[in-house]
Amino acid sequence: MWTLKASLSVLFLLVSLDDTGTARADNPIVQTIYTADPAPIVYNNRLYCFTDHDLPSSTFFNMTDWRLFSTADMANWLDHGTVMSLKTFSWASANAWAGQVVSRNNKFYYYAPMVHGATGAMAIGVGVSDTITGPYVDALGHPLVENNEIDPTVLIDDDGQAYLYWANPDLWYVKLNQDMISYSGSPAMIQLTVAGFGARSGSENRTTSFEEGPWVYKRNGLYYNVFAADCCSEDIRYSTSPGPLGPWTYRGVVMPTQGSSFTNHPGVIDYKGNSYFFYHNGALPGGGGYDRSVAVERFVYNADGSIPQMNMTTTGAPRIDTLNPYQRQEAELIAGSSGVSTEVCSEGGLDVCNINNGDYIKVEGVNFANGAKSFSARVASATTGGNIELHLDSLHGALIGTCAVRSTGGWQTWTTVTCSVSNATGVRDLFFAYTGSGTGFLFNVNWWEFNKL
Ligand SMILES: *[C@@H]1O[C@H](CO)[C@@H](O)[C@H](O)[C@H]1NC(C)=O
Ligand SMILES: *[C@@H]1O[C@H](CO)[C@@H](O)[C@H](O)[C@H]1NC(C)=O
Ligand SMILES: *[C@@H]1O[C@H](CO)[C@@H](O)[C@H](O)[C@H]1NC(C)=O
Ligand SMILES: *[C@@H]1O[C@H](CO)[C@@H](O)[C@H](O)[C@H]1NC(C)=O
Repeated sequence: MWTLKASLSVLFLLVSLDDTGTARADNPIVQTIYTADPAPIVYNNRLYCFTDHDLPSSTFFNMTDWRLFSTADMANWLDHGTVMSLKTFSWASANAWAGQVVSRNNKFYYYAPMVHGATGAMAIGVGVSDTITGPYVDALGHPLVENNEIDPTVLIDDDGQAYLYWANPDLWYVKLNQDMISYSGSPAMIQLTVAGFGARSGSENRTTSFEEGPWVYKRNGLYYNVFAADCCSEDIRYSTSPGPLGPWTYRGVVMPTQGSSFTNHPGVIDYKGNSYFFYHNGALPGGGGYDRSVAVERFVYNADGSIPQMNMTTTGAPRIDTLNPYQRQEAELIAGSSGVSTEVCSEGGLDVCNINNGDYIKVEGVNFANGAKSFSARVASATTGGNIELHLDSLHGALIGTCAVRSTGGWQTWTTVTCSVSNATGVRDLFFAYTGSGTGFLFNVNWWEFNKL
């Protein structure tokens, strides 16, 4: 039987259960670490989501790095690890906060706020990379803009003009040059009016509901500014405009105050014909205002371009594709998990580590088609190892195979293990259930694949 960890028990209280006691939550999308301030971008037919990274048991937003996750099916998220950190910026001293990546000039630009050590003020830096997965390097060697405000978002308009917006307590913009790392003119404020941004109902002394976290984009000729409103706790509201600089019209609440985080942050994107709303809450075990988690909902714009109001859910967005198990898949491709972590792998990319007896990873929508005959996994262990049990449909569902992992002599000393598989057909959810009786972590996993022969 399963020895469920305390953390999993807490998770069970927060999500719906089926009658085998299996957690069905797909939100939060990342369950191995705390993440916040989602910034989605579509590139090469894949959806990438950049996030900040809250440290466990934090009592302030003293984050140090930025993370990246990606998906092709809205259910299984590939962990790309750290793509940028405070160390990237020699002038930065603290607070790796909400950023956004945009693509231009065959490069990727990561706009992110952090403390400028020399002044103590929040400033916005730019990371740049030739590949979306980074690592990003400091494009300037100094802040792009600095006025102690935060939450950069970038719009590249159809005429090629790019705008950087940032905020809290005001809403600023500046016109970026084609190089995306310099600007024309001076930063200016967008006037916050009740007609533009709604009346405030929270306790903070500000003129409108606008608080922070603007997410500006253009869709079907309409400009949207989706933002965190009313503090605290924040909800998410939005405004629209016929142009990039207004006049803005307040359009209402997108997501009410929910989910045990006193902040929230929107990220809105279309992907493979659907529209998605990313946000964060405190839904993971141990979660809260400084230990947040990114989640996503699918929605449909109304005919007039308005955004329907949404609630936070634990089910999240529907899966929109299946996964091919006969092609090598990274172990850190995860729809749901308990207990495990990821780390940089000596063979490239990441591996799954910190595996204890009773931990698991769920991968959704695995298309076994006519049937798998064997399973292989790339593993390493500095202890006595354990077993990878392969279950279908749920943690306690049909056992289709068990792969034994022995010591390989080191946590980064890799070998491939193979075991036979029976009765794996059709499109199924796959659970890797890790078991072992030794002390300490059992083993690490770099990748896996099924074979038809
Ligand atoms: C962040 O704050 C928490 C709680 O105050 C502390 O435990 C942690 O060490 C801090 N981390 C950093 C990187 O400063
Ligand atoms: C509210 O804002 C007004 C105008 O800026 C200021 O004069 C006043 O002191 C503020 N009140 C509080 C309680 O902060
Ligand atoms: C959100 O939750 C509230 C309260 O349970 C409910 O009344 C409302 O219908 C929900 N809205 C949506 C869009 O599901
Ligand atoms: C094979 O899987 C099917 C569908 O899940 C199940 O009904 C059947 O009992 C399984 N057979 C064996 C031998 O496990």
